[in-house]
Amino acid sequence: MSETVPILVDTSVCVNEVNCALSDSSTEDIRLVPEVAFEPALDSPSINRESQPLLGGLDVSFNQFPDDPGFSDLVWQAEVAIDNAIFPERISQGSSGSYFVKNPSGKIIAVFKPKDEEPYGRLNPKWTKWMHKLCCPCCFGRSCLIPNQGYLSEAAASLVDTKLNLNIVPKTRVVKLVSDTFNYLRIDRQKARVKRAIMEQFFFQVVKLVSDTFNYLRIDRQKARVKRAIMEQFPNVGLRFNRIGLPPKCGSFQLFVDGYKDADYWLRRFEVEPLPTGMAKKFQLQFEKKFQLQFERLVVLDYIIRNTDRGNDNWLIKYDQPSIVTSNANGTAAAHVHVHETADTTDWNVVQLPEIKIAAIDNGLAFPYKHPDSWRAYPYHWAWLPQAKVPFSREIRELILPPLSDMNFVQDMCDDLHLLFKQDKGFDQRLFERQMSVMRGQILNLTQALKDGKSPVQLVQMPAVVVEKSHGQTTSRFFNFTQRFQDKSPFFSWC
Ligand SMILES: Nc1ncnc2c1ncn2[C@@H]1O[C@H](COP(=O)(O)OP(=O)(O)OP(=O)(O)O)[C@@H](O)[C@H]1O
Ligand SMILES: [Mg+2]
Repeated sequence: MSETVPILVDTSVCVNEVNCALSDSSTEDIRLVPEVAFEPALDSPSINRESQPLLGGLDVSFNQFPDDPGFSDLVWQAEVAIDNAIFPERISQGSSGSYFVKNPSGKIIAVFKPKDEEPYGRLNPKWTKWMHKLCCPCCFGRSCLIPNQGYLSEAAASLVDTKLNLNIVPKTRVVKLVSDTFNYLRIDRQKARVKRAIMEQFFFQVVKLVSDTFNYLRIDRQKARVKRAIMEQFPNVGLRFNRIGLPPKCGSFQLFVDGYKDADYWLRRFEVEPLPTGMAKKFQLQFEKKFQLQFERLVVLDYIIRNTDRGNDNWLIKYDQPSIVTSNANGTAAAHVHVHETADTTDWNVVQLPEIKIAAIDNGLAFPYKHPDSWRAYPYHWAWLPQAKVPFSREIRELILPPLSDMNFVQDMCDDLHLLFKQDKGFDQRLFERQMSVMRGQILNLTQALKDGKSPVQLVQMPAVVVEKSHGQTTSRFFNFTQRFQDKSPFFSWC
């Protein structure tokens, strides 16, 4: 059964801003004899420019995000850290090569997931997935997903989150990084060692040559200045070649969020340790409301991107327990204490309301090009939570319905996703169109559910639908779409 729905879409807006603002500051003359005045050349506010990264073999423009200098700066900090041997550290849990990336002072700032170390990637370091691929090749991976594009899915989830102002996905973009701690083929490491040795030799030869030239010319003061400048600029040459030689890895770079724990942890705690009586009455409702609103954002995100991997270990919760002030005998405030420690106290003064925030991480298995088969439905695990039975709130309707009801907005989002996805070497336009058809179908269901006052549980029970762009009928500005229901019973029918 299929029904043609003509929808007018303005497709005129499609501008690639990513690469347009590459540095135009390279207009200075380059002198052959160094008039060395090593001034900081980049303008990040928070970095010691002494340690500018060496970009051996790396496209300098790749990790620059002109629309987001803060993000560029963070990636840059990671590069400086790597140059100074503060390497990304592999996350021990999980089925793929994912890394905690650090800044020069050793603080974790991001999670990097290289494309070739994804669960079924060429260089996945985890043997369980390797065995899986070897022993049952017919059912490895998810047949509805394009293999090995998890890093794009991670970045795309962040894009959708930003577009819809959901604010639950930590900012994620595609970057290239090199680190000795990544998983490389032995041949790549050997090649890198040779390259590094050559570079180091070359570097020392250049220093010696410059120095000898000045020596020969007997320009002592200049000679001393050059030597000093070089040594200041390159204090430990050996370390500074850390990123030279090894091939850069393309992957998703997601900001690390502090103070969050796996949702599982908090959901269990909330079950066994409900808020104490007395306290509970004061802000239980407020807490529930806040959690509900955050939860609905997660539902919206997952449903639109058709996440096939939303277990309760793949989203995080930050819960700041309320601080309170107890009054002592003479009526003065005694101390800030946590709820659990003083549950029997009757004289409460809440000084800080409970804060609850959700972070939707691990979005690498989303954007399928067809709906999952009914026998492997990859359900959204949040659908079992009591919050999923509550109809969507007015707040989420007001946030989501206006943009999603505007087909130009949806088309813009598809165009942005196209720019992102097409950078993969294996990009396939036809499969991309199918991914967008699934996404449009999800959006169609979601908008209907919001209009009808449905709950998340009712939403996931709606029949799967795809909205396909009709072939041969497009003009430069307008598309026709065909809405098609999946010819099966609801793929999610657990209750
Ligand atoms: N952006 C982030 N901020 C804070 N912690 C994070 C972030 N991303 C991941 N983590 C932590 O790292 C753990 C592993 O992350 P993630 O699930 O994304 O990796 P993975 O390799 O895909 O694992 P798996 O295969 O088990 O799903 C998470 O459970 C979480 O504790
Ligand atoms: Mg995970």
